[in-house]
Amino acid sequence: MDKIVINGKRPLNGEMSVSGMKNAAVAVILATLLVEDKCLLENLPDISDVNVSLEILRSMGATVERRDRNTALIDTKFIKPGSSPYDLVRKMRASYYLIGAELGRFGKAYVGCPGGCDFGTRPIDQHIKGFRALGATVDVAGGYIDAKTEDGLHGSSVYMDVVTVGGTINTMIAAVKAEGTTVIENAAHEPHIVDTANFLNACGAKISGAGTDVIKIRGVKQLHGTSYTIIPDMIEAGTFMIMAAATGGHVKITNVIPKHLDSITAKLDEMNVGVEEGEESVTIYKKGDIRSANIKTLPYPGFPTDMNPQICVLACLAGGTSLITEGVFENRFRYTEELKRMGAHIKVDGRVAVVEGTGSLTGAPVRAVDLRAGIAMVIAGLAADGITEIDDIFHIQRGYENIVEKLTRVGADIRLVHVPDAISYSKAE
Ligand code: UD1
Repeated sequence: MDKIVINGKRPLNGEMSVSGMKNAAVAVILATLLVEDKCLLENLPDISDVNVSLEILRSMGATVERRDRNTALIDTKFIKPGSSPYDLVRKMRASYYLIGAELGRFGKAYVGCPGGCDFGTRPIDQHIKGFRALGATVDVAGGYIDAKTEDGLHGSSVYMDVVTVGGTINTMIAAVKAEGTTVIENAAHEPHIVDTANFLNACGAKISGAGTDVIKIRGVKQLHGTSYTIIPDMIEAGTFMIMAAATGGHVKITNVIPKHLDSITAKLDEMNVGVEEGEESVTIYKKGDIRSANIKTLPYPGFPTDMNPQICVLACLAGGTSLITEGVFENRFRYTEELKRMGAHIKVDGRVAVVEGTGSLTGAPVRAVDLRAGIAMVIAGLAADGITEIDDIFHIQRGYENIVEKLTRVGADIRLVHVPDAISYSKAE
């Protein structure tokens, strides 16, 4: 029962380095299941979703050697099909990649239903549509997804009804060793789709078009091991950009791919925040008062839904009214109730939040309701007057490496406090 305690209203100053991308790392780790050989993965973020992914592979029979906190050597040769532990699988969304990977390697998959943040219903019908197009029969019963083929998967055409990151990557993973050619149309474009395709191609896969609407996969019989470095996390970078902006600080954010940040940079510019792009960095500085803006989250290259809570905090600190429209998930605004405890004026109507910027927030005890909502509470705490205490920070630890240390280094007054279970229990009474 750890919590984060922040004494706010201190501008951040200095340099922050971005870790490897969570959503690419978990896809690549689970895709090693297809490889049946040794893969050395570098720039893995040291976060609980990565640790859970590695633990899942280990408990299925893989050898996983942690070379250092950001590097792992994985050998999946002796993995047993259908052996992923339900309790680990349900801890994160990305465990759905086990279905595509097991189907691709063994022609069958038996995997518990995935977990992850609660943004309303999060169906995987498009993943299943992809697997069925490749010739699998798929049943969902008793909390498990049970997929089978008669004689392996066969290449085919799949048109995704919605633009889905997980559905695109999962179908791509399944198709790598299918017989013949698979074409995924209306594919999602996110950078981690490209990263997963680059990893698989480095192992001998034949994937082209990742990052566009149409991905073509020519099936290969065998893959081989490789060394691969995960790309920087654009959501962590965007989060740091907003932390700097919200505190009126001056921060150089390093180890980024500025192109991935275009939609965030453009919005910050519109909100009167200074952004200077370098080759592998962005620097954020104060230009004047923060201005309101309208934001709509969309699939990449639109403004990311995983930046919805963070930009909402900045809108609270702006002068004027901002409209935030959630264009990807049905219920992503649960965190606004927590922000209201800090004095935010927000009205939510379905997928739209109307934010009356008051220019300030005040510290309060709040909860991380999910991963990005949790980090938004950290941003709010950094900018607020007084003390903010954040509970349920295991959500934040799923996706942000060393966040307390990274923020302390740029001048934040932030602490991780261990609360013994007995105390938190009696407090809850
Ligand atoms: C992934 C990311 C998550 C990010 C999201 C959108 C991972 C592990 N998670 O989640 O951080 O917020 O992309 O960028 O990479 N949908 C369907 N049917 C499906 C699949 C999705 O209707 O079979 C819908 C979803 O309900 C949602 C939209 O499609 O409305 C997009 O979801 P998707 O891109 O699949 O998100 P995830 O893969 O769950």
